[in-house]
Amino acid sequence: MVDGPDDTPNGDTPKFAICINRRFGSDRPSCGNRGSAAIADAIETGAQERGINVTIERIVCFGMCADGPNMRLVPGGAFHKNVNLDQVDEILATLESACGHKKKSDDIPGIPGS
Ligand code: FES
Repeated sequence: MVDGPDDTPNGDTPKFAICINRRFGSDRPSCGNRGSAAIADAIETGAQERGINVTIERIVCFGMCADGPNMRLVPGGAFHKNVNLDQVDEILATLESACGHKKKSDDIPGIPGS
């Protein structure tokens, strides 16, 4: 198991960006029209349950709409394309390996109750 950096408000937590763009009034493909919001919800819930040291960010378009739903670790992570709900566990395992886990307060010396 990999320990990730502290979950601090200064931006040290890795981010996983998920496109939820929905092209209203268009028959062109988009991540949102292919269920990416539900996938984002499932990944966010799974990441919280597993204590993965990652922040899930919903973003609007990577510019690869025909390949969606699209998502990636930012910056620089490989794209996950054409994602569906059946792939959520696999993505969570990838995030767990890449980002590690959030530190619990009982792991921090000097915190009462630890
Ligand atoms: S709509 Fe998701 S990449 Fe454009």
